[in-house]
Amino acid sequence: MRRHICLRLLLVLMVVATASGRATTPPSVEPPDWDSDIRLREAEDINPDPKIVEINLQAAVTEVDVAGEKVQAWTYNGGIPGPLIRANAGDRLIVHFTNQLPSPTTVHWHGIRLPIAMDGVPGISQDEVETGQSFTYDFTLPDAGLFWYHPHVESATQVGFGLSGPLLVEDPGEQIGVTDQLVLVLNDIEIDKGALVRPNMGGTAGMAFGREGNIVLVNGKKNASISARAGAPQRWRIVNTAKSRYFNINLRGTSTVLTKIGSDGGLLEYPKQFDTLVLAPGERADVIVAPKGKPGTTIQVVSELYNRGFGSVEFREAEDLFRIALNNQPVLAATPLPKIRRTIEPLSAEGATPVKFELTITQDSPDGKYEYRVNGKPFWKAKPILGKIGETQIWTVNNTTAWSHPIHLHGFFFLVLDKAGQPVRPLEWKDTVNVPFNQSLQFLVRYDDREGEWMVHCHILDHAEGGLMTTVKIGNGPDKGHMHHP
Ligand code: C2O
Ligand code: CU
Repeated sequence: MRRHICLRLLLVLMVVATASGRATTPPSVEPPDWDSDIRLREAEDINPDPKIVEINLQAAVTEVDVAGEKVQAWTYNGGIPGPLIRANAGDRLIVHFTNQLPSPTTVHWHGIRLPIAMDGVPGISQDEVETGQSFTYDFTLPDAGLFWYHPHVESATQVGFGLSGPLLVEDPGEQIGVTDQLVLVLNDIEIDKGALVRPNMGGTAGMAFGREGNIVLVNGKKNASISARAGAPQRWRIVNTAKSRYFNINLRGTSTVLTKIGSDGGLLEYPKQFDTLVLAPGERADVIVAPKGKPGTTIQVVSELYNRGFGSVEFREAEDLFRIALNNQPVLAATPLPKIRRTIEPLSAEGATPVKFELTITQDSPDGKYEYRVNGKPFWKAKPILGKIGETQIWTVNNTTAWSHPIHLHGFFFLVLDKAGQPVRPLEWKDTVNVPFNQSLQFLVRYDDREGEWMVHCHILDHAEGGLMTTVKIGNGPDKGHMHHP
């Protein structure tokens, strides 16, 4: 009798929810506290206005526990990674940032289409934030998706020492049909005898490859564990914040597929399935995973080897990321997910201005140092690429080096083209794309009215600092040349 009433009540509530036009959220299908070992700290929103997220963010050297060792690391709000900032699309984000590091820094909001003044690049949008000083970032978040934040001063060093964090912008109207969600920050750090390792390790040869850390972390933990019900769908929001390492995600020993529903700039046109999923530094993926396995067993999630160029797979092994301990509940039968579709209006290549972006590496200076170049010049000698408000450009990135390069453009999304010059399907807004060694790739980008000088660089941060970086100057005014320093 009691149960009967409950069911009727539930039915009434569901009808009310549907009638009021709100998205119905299915109940959690995971065990209680399933993700407690890996769940991220969240930044505290100190503003009661539901449309404003206002937080305090402090960069400082603090002692953190990295894989059981106490290390003095560079942190945001005292931990690695920095706190998860959550907001809804359309919200205003206000960040009161304070620098307590021994070096100047800034905060760049990777992937957010914000005004240039908030882009966090010293010499272009703001001055460096000196030790003991503060800066307030204040902008709206136009797009839903997983984004991230990190310094843009000596970024190879500062990101490598621990400074990066996730920014999740959700669309409350979205109907994905999966309630259990993990935000996964994939990262690494180089530690030797309990201390951070100098950032110039291996000289310019180390730079040419891109220095990877020796400890792989997922949400700051080494091979942590979640508990889950076999077959139950989970949504993983993944970002690779490592300064050089690529991740190639696989649920080892299972035939679990990874259904990718979104990437850098929110949902894809339609989902696409993968057995293993590659994320280059800076890239994001939104994935639905229903782990396949016998109840009571444990699945090891790994990063398989991935060939990003000379020296990246020889004598190396896969890395453990985290484990999924399947509980004893019977396998949850697969229920079809709602059709996830997004209408993306493709940009047209017709009339687009061609831009060439030639990536080379040289060793021709008298001291034998390696130097990366874009269109024949390292960053410190580069002239900006020019763009106009409303202009569409077709970029050809030609990589003749022995290493792959994840190319990141600040402030704008682009659409990657296939070999036939057509946009890759499903359509996908990207801000970071991997350009494999000895290959070339094209993309289309359209600039809006956000004038300014926007960085474009390799997100292997050693490469960026080794020269693989330049800018796109957007505006209708005359070119005044470079006005900043690395
Ligand atoms: Cu995450 Cu200039 O970049
Ligand atoms: Cu690179």
